[in-house]
Amino acid sequence: MPLTRKAYRAAILHSIADPAEVGIEASYEYFEDGLLVVDGGKISALGHASDLLPTLPADIEIEHYQDALITPGFIDTHIHFPQTGMVGAYGEQLLDWLNTYTFPCESQFGDKAHADEVADIFVKELLRNGTTTALVFGSVHPQSVNSFFEKAEQLDLRMIAGKVMMDRNAPDYLTDTAESSYVESKALIERWHGKGRLHYAVTPRFAPTSTPEQLTLAGQLLTEYPDLYMQTHISENLKEIEWVKELFPERKGYLDVYDHYNLLGERSVFAHGVHLCDDECARLAETGSAISFCPTSNFFLGSGLFNLPMAEKHKLNVGLGTDVGGGTSFSLLQTLNEAYKVMQLQGARLSPFKSLYLATLGGARALHLEDKIGNLQPGSDADFLVLDYNATPLLSYRLKQTNNIAETLFVLMTLGDDRTVQQTYAAGALVHQR
Ligand code: GUN
Ligand code: ZN
Repeated sequence: MPLTRKAYRAAILHSIADPAEVGIEASYEYFEDGLLVVDGGKISALGHASDLLPTLPADIEIEHYQDALITPGFIDTHIHFPQTGMVGAYGEQLLDWLNTYTFPCESQFGDKAHADEVADIFVKELLRNGTTTALVFGSVHPQSVNSFFEKAEQLDLRMIAGKVMMDRNAPDYLTDTAESSYVESKALIERWHGKGRLHYAVTPRFAPTSTPEQLTLAGQLLTEYPDLYMQTHISENLKEIEWVKELFPERKGYLDVYDHYNLLGERSVFAHGVHLCDDECARLAETGSAISFCPTSNFFLGSGLFNLPMAEKHKLNVGLGTDVGGGTSFSLLQTLNEAYKVMQLQGARLSPFKSLYLATLGGARALHLEDKIGNLQPGSDADFLVLDYNATPLLSYRLKQTNNIAETLFVLMTLGDDRTVQQTYAAGALVHQR
């Protein structure tokens, strides 16, 4: 970890609040000629270059980026590491897609060498796209989580992951048992949770692939260890929802299944939530649970349009998820491009500052990590990006026509992708250079 002080000069933008709560103008800070000072992996100062430069020692190293914007690192609140090799699998909706493509692809992760190889590709891809924190599904095999965490640890990344728990309604070659999933998850928690910047997430895949016994043990793990995460899927697809009703006829609905097994809480993140009703949103909000909004996946698998205004009405924590490999891009810029269209199709808007919030501070709040990541406040982890205004000829030309940071930001989210991410820094260290 670099323990020396270093400063970065460029235009700098970050979210400081949810625009839905404070209005757009009070939701961000923008420094046209800004300075970010990093000390020992943390941010020590942020402000206008003209104010901060006189306060710094004469010999401090200053990196000056022209035609570039510094933002916080992006936060992906839902992604599957073992699905890296199956992005863009043709033609199915959720349940057939799982059986046809997903389960065979994930079965390869019983082989540690394969898991290591994909972990390397996956982590590089996250960083190439400016994602510095992700909430990650492994496969059912514990070694998949070891492979991922080993990579993340080498780079001192703040990452959250867990082994899938799945003891029914999946091929035999890919199921665990309630007991083995508990024991294996526990061993992974003991090894990784709280190590460096790593955190563990208890990961029942979704209600249809867990028996009541397994869901009970998932809930038990959450009570045995402080600050554990819980990640799963909810209300993504209409056939899936019908199936949950058949499997759990005694419960009021899909969310009530998870609620019954004590899986809701401040560190619980439910992916998709496309078809949630008002009561379910209210219950999620009441328990401090979060939803991961996954627009590219919801389009690609034909799942539907997430109702962000309804979530906002309930003051529900919402982060953004790529859901690779159901999702089609690792880029949270491209994910926001699609999120905008989801809102358009519902007669609503997604302002560029709300988008920035979703990809950064909103994600941090969904993960209860807003004191550490999500913006560039002094004291935060030095996880940040340098976005290049000249990344492509079209972006360069288009940005010359913008008149203010709101327009610039919106165009970055419409035309931007991995090419836009010039540098990625994690804990103050350069972890990707385009
Ligand atoms: N529901 C259960 N498993 C999955 C998965 O792997 N991807 C998506 N998108 N939905 C799921
Ligand atoms: Zn998913």
